[in-house]
Amino acid sequence: MEKLGSMMEYRLKTFANWMVHSGNGTLEDLLFKTRDTLTVWPWSTALMYSVAGVALLYALHLFYYQAVVWKRDLTDIGYNHILDAARIGKSNRKRVDTVNRARRLRKIGDKLPPPYPNGWFSVLESEDLARGEAKSVDCLGQNLVVFRTQEGEVNILDAYCPHLGANLGVGGVVRGDCIECPFHHWSFSGRDGQCTNIPYSKSGVVPKVARLRKWRSLEANGFIFVWHHVDPEAEPWTFNVLPEIEDGRWVYYGKNEFLVNCHIQDVPENGADVAHLAAVHGPNMLSGSDIRYSRAAWADFGMHSWLASWKAPEQGEPAHIAKMDLVHSFRIFNKLEVGKIDVRAYQIGPGYVQLMMNTGMGPFVVLQTVTPIEPLVQKVIHRFYAPRNIWNAIFQKFAIWAESVMFERDMMVWNHKQFIDNPLLIKEDRLIKCYRKWYSQFYSENSVSFQMAKEKLDW
Ligand code: FES
Ligand SMILES: [Fe+2]
Repeated sequence: MEKLGSMMEYRLKTFANWMVHSGNGTLEDLLFKTRDTLTVWPWSTALMYSVAGVALLYALHLFYYQAVVWKRDLTDIGYNHILDAARIGKSNRKRVDTVNRARRLRKIGDKLPPPYPNGWFSVLESEDLARGEAKSVDCLGQNLVVFRTQEGEVNILDAYCPHLGANLGVGGVVRGDCIECPFHHWSFSGRDGQCTNIPYSKSGVVPKVARLRKWRSLEANGFIFVWHHVDPEAEPWTFNVLPEIEDGRWVYYGKNEFLVNCHIQDVPENGADVAHLAAVHGPNMLSGSDIRYSRAAWADFGMHSWLASWKAPEQGEPAHIAKMDLVHSFRIFNKLEVGKIDVRAYQIGPGYVQLMMNTGMGPFVVLQTVTPIEPLVQKVIHRFYAPRNIWNAIFQKFAIWAESVMFERDMMVWNHKQFIDNPLLIKEDRLIKCYRKWYSQFYSENSVSFQMAKEKLDW
């Protein structure tokens, strides 16, 4: 023991000597100043560095995982020329009145096609409907209640209760696979819309006619879709589910969402209207979305180039799918070509598009849904999905911004254009004619006419 004690003493002395002679301090410095330094560090600097470190980690986490949402309302895009002239700023309440007046004054054109075509339409995005939640959705000339059971299944029914007309989407409660009306607590099954329980009925009998219309629905690729068709017998087409999204290989990076003032047919017509690409989307994206200024000379150093072709389905291919090929590049001083993206777009039915993108750095997909809210108001959403990696954490944010700028340029045209049933086309516009012929398959003889749909709203 004694030998061990003297060995320890020797080691400590050697260490103290080394500390004293290896630095500039004395033994006193070593014993007292070190203690002073230690008392300062834990409570101020260390805390500051810890907070900064945590904040940095949180910011990096957000940057990597947080989805970007770019949302614009009906008055946000395309009316600034009127609002500027009237000196109406962003927060002014007159803004809405001024925009509505401009909408009333607009001549919308003659012979507009039916406003609510047949097909699958998005009613909500999946993350907007939690388990046990019910929401009211108004679109396609219908008032719907969309609800999700605790098991995760989505059901869509007509919103108005046959008892005394309450809207089940406003205060309705999900119980099992049923929804309970907020007014007198009648319950309706999500499976077939049949009333299953009237809590205060003494006989316990439920009238057979107490039934709500059940709408076919499905959930895929981050959206909830409803099958809308004027012919109740019409069978829906099989929906294109993207396995990369369903199995989680590609993740959601964000979206943009717009309300557009035009007929639904105008939005996908953009794909076949190849001549507008150079005119509207040629000018540098840095010059912004307002087409009054997007051809600014200062931005001429860089222009977008688009090579496009639109194709109706061939014999044997599904009739409801049209294709479009697009090659985009950005030309700097008309010499250096960067940012090449190959796009294969599938227009699937009247209100859904899958844009499969290929960049030099990997693939990604943009899913577009167009849902008629009113005869001349479309809700348009683009959701972006790609593999999870650093490149996409940066690039997808840029892509969402760039696509939003380009889409808003179209919106400025759509929000003010007329629908021309018999347009003055030249040979180079022939794809527009092909497109209109293809799109006409989504209207039936019994489709609600534009006039009729409008009259229903003008009360
Ligand atoms: S209105 Fe729905 S239960 Fe009475
Ligand atoms: Fe466009």
